[in-house]
Amino acid sequence: MSTTAAGIASIGLQLPPLFMPVTELAELRGVDPNKYTKGLGCVDIALCPAGHDAVSLAVGAAKRALSRWNGSAEDIGLVAVGTESSKDMSRPLSAWIAEELGLSGAIRSYEVKHACYGGTLALRQALEWKWSGAGAGKAALVIASDVALYSLGDPGEPTQGAGAVAMIIDQPTLASVVPTAFPFSSPAFDFWRPVGDSFPSVDGKLSLDCYKRAVMECFGSLIGDRDAHEVLSGYRWLCFHVPFPKMVKKAVIHLGEQLGWSTQEAERLYLAKVEDTLEWNQLTGNAYTASLWISVARALVGLEEGTAITAFSYGSGYGAELLQLAAGPAAASASWVSDVEEDLRVRKPVDMWGYETLRGDVRASA
Ligand code: CAA
Repeated sequence: MSTTAAGIASIGLQLPPLFMPVTELAELRGVDPNKYTKGLGCVDIALCPAGHDAVSLAVGAAKRALSRWNGSAEDIGLVAVGTESSKDMSRPLSAWIAEELGLSGAIRSYEVKHACYGGTLALRQALEWKWSGAGAGKAALVIASDVALYSLGDPGEPTQGAGAVAMIIDQPTLASVVPTAFPFSSPAFDFWRPVGDSFPSVDGKLSLDCYKRAVMECFGSLIGDRDAHEVLSGYRWLCFHVPFPKMVKKAVIHLGEQLGWSTQEAERLYLAKVEDTLEWNQLTGNAYTASLWISVARALVGLEEGTAITAFSYGSGYGAELLQLAAGPAAASASWVSDVEEDLRVRKPVDMWGYETLRGDVRASA
């Protein structure tokens, strides 16, 4: 294994075993379903029954990524888990996951927190560890895993979801990542969860403004003095963190406005390079740290080697980063699609009464 050529060598996804259509939630809350489907662009909320959580999702995703990688557990030198579903203020979520996977020994294992940006930070740290040579030829297991729930009746309730994406950072057979990235951060209280609180607090309007500004700043840095159309035409797909699908469309329209484009031009960009990347996100809901990587996993499906895409990561608080990836030789085989197909095939729908029972259980265990 080379110390400099590093990228994504394997991807595994895990979706929860239950889901509820947002139209069912609309009926429960007495809201016009069009608000959730057309206004927010949501379709389904992925839900975890009792006994399933961010650890079981992460373990499922990691097992799938490991099973399709040509290395072994002895080749792993780093386990980094991005999450905002921590179980403990001290013990990292990676300890629960490593325990289940039987990973111990000469391994740096830790949890990364920066709201939904945590998974991307874990990935960047793993890549930089490899690129610098500090990994000494070992591979990294990076996992983004979350269960996103809001308090009952909260405006964020239709955007709930869950899921995990595991990536092995080794040879760039599925995708390479360009070392130069475009970060932006600006401290704000847009979305936060104080220690001891079961559910987040959100300043909805501010959170939308922060997200849109971060998109503008990160893409502004990528484009620089160059022609925006020319720069963006170099990427087949533009992937985004997806708090709810309409947020992404709003941000692309806003970016277009800032670039001096007409709304129609921005909508064309959205339709050509963004909308299809949201397909799996609409079926999972917001999976916080995993959200962007679910979109990237969808975008990489079947891409020819060398095809470039971007990945915009956003975490409340707030921090963001725009990455550039290129498909590797094995992206065309899209082996990870079977994870999503299988999970969607076996998952069971929950109606409004089942949801209330489930949330009662969640409250009892929170
Ligand atoms: N038919 C069609 N559309 C309708 C409608 C109807 N009957 N009723 C309302 N709508 C539309 C509204 O016009 C609005 O669309 P526009 O913004 O385009 O005008 C949309 O539905 C939503 O309506 P509201 O703005 O009234 O919705 P709300 O205030 O009840 O809730 C929210 C919206 C604040 C985003 C809420 O879902 C929320 O708090 N979400 C969590 C926070 C979030 O996701 N923020 C995003 C950025 S932060 C981030 O990215 C981190 C993260 O993952 C959380």
